[in-house]
Amino acid sequence: MDSVLKRALKGIIPTKKEEKDMQKISRKLLIAVGKFADKHNADTILAGSITRNTWLKEKKEIDIFVAFPDNLPDKDLATIGLQIGKAAIKSMGGRHIISYAQHPYVRGFVGKYQVDIVPCYKLDSADKIKSAVDRTPFHVKFIEKNMRSEQANDVRLLKQFCKSAGVYGADLKTEGLSGYMCDLLIIKYGSFSNTIKNISNWKAGSVITLQNEVAQKFENAPLVLIDPVDSKRNVAAAVSPKNFEFLVSRAKNFCKKPSDKFFTIQKRKPMERPEFLKLKKLRGTSVIAVAFKPPKVVSDILWPQMRRFVERMGQMLRENDFKPMNCAGWSDEKNIAIAIFEMEVNNLPNIKKKVGPSVFAHTNSQNFIEHYAKNPVRKPYVEGVNWVVETGRKHVNAAYYMLDVLKQNQKTLEAVGIPSHIAEYICKGSKIAVDEKIYGLIKNNKEAKTFIRNFFGYVS
Ligand code: UTP
Ligand code: MN
Ligand code: MN
Repeated sequence: MDSVLKRALKGIIPTKKEEKDMQKISRKLLIAVGKFADKHNADTILAGSITRNTWLKEKKEIDIFVAFPDNLPDKDLATIGLQIGKAAIKSMGGRHIISYAQHPYVRGFVGKYQVDIVPCYKLDSADKIKSAVDRTPFHVKFIEKNMRSEQANDVRLLKQFCKSAGVYGADLKTEGLSGYMCDLLIIKYGSFSNTIKNISNWKAGSVITLQNEVAQKFENAPLVLIDPVDSKRNVAAAVSPKNFEFLVSRAKNFCKKPSDKFFTIQKRKPMERPEFLKLKKLRGTSVIAVAFKPPKVVSDILWPQMRRFVERMGQMLRENDFKPMNCAGWSDEKNIAIAIFEMEVNNLPNIKKKVGPSVFAHTNSQNFIEHYAKNPVRKPYVEGVNWVVETGRKHVNAAYYMLDVLKQNQKTLEAVGIPSHIAEYICKGSKIAVDEKIYGLIKNNKEAKTFIRNFFGYVS
């Protein structure tokens, strides 16, 4: 194990020069932001992984929080916060974009560094926290007090382990662990290897505390990690059940047999058409795909909407007697959004059978018979003790059914539960394809073909 960790660290610890440069640029940035922040009586605070020396070699990112007096109204906090961020980045000769977490913040690019400048409130106690960003200054203090400097590399190993598993990041696309969560786990368990040992024993529903806080209930959270600075907050809130189980199984495997592969980012191969055809034949299923231009919204909105779209579409298929087996959505966030449905039942007969009331329920029976008196397929008849009827179906093919649904206007789509931005972009034009024809939708998009491999969970 030691040699594996040693090799892993080689790839993720910044060099002495990188560290020096990072310190230099963050000091400069702090001064640049401070110049503008001072005028508003706001504090400029360095936060995130550079304050604990836990940043990964390849993530050259600096987090600066600007803490305003807490009597400043919310909307002023946002506008002034953005102004300060923009001005500071400009003064450093960088460019910027406006990003969103709970509040808008400025993301600047200065040389090879990414700089997040986030406005928040200056609070004397954590009970007064208004939004997630207000916790950060308390996080900085907590880690400063509770993490030993030798533990920095353990945090780095844990971050990389999570990255390799595809579960690093608490954003809504990744649904994984935040950097701060990695910090806390190392504080709790002491070292990387002990943390992994503990993770390998996690069970869905596990609750972890650092200071024996009394945990409230968090519905459906596979893991609860109480924030030591705010016991109402679950630091692991973003972690999905799927990612939770995957991380635990990786930890189990690592404990059994440590190897370099737990720290490398393995690129999965795209699934090309011949392999898809072979697999489809083996499985005997049918695959339907819907493709459209992805809405121009931030990733934290796009991904939850894609998930809800896929879920709702699957539900509607089921309500119409089709049987989707696996459904998933994906987007490159630029050219294409695609949802795939693997169908257990794709085609239905022209008729369906409906069981009616018992013959002993006289009034209901009478109503049933009258209601279906002119039924063109077949008159009501008795099976066992129940009246039954056979009626025609509106939709006998899942892809045609989807076509019918998705050609409706935006209002109607939203009314049936398709998320707003997705509805809007489906109306601008969507394409449906079945089986190998889905390759016509994704052309030479390698990432989309990799998504197809992931969809089938099929590693060749
Ligand atoms: P970052 O996402 O930049 O994380 O958030 P980080 O700890 O610096 O880790 P890396 O190395 O960049 O990946 C900066 C700070 O914002 C708060 C934390 O206090 C974190 O240290 N934060 C951010 C959260 O509490 N939760 C989140 O999901 C994201
Ligand atoms: Mn950071
Ligand atoms: Mn950040």
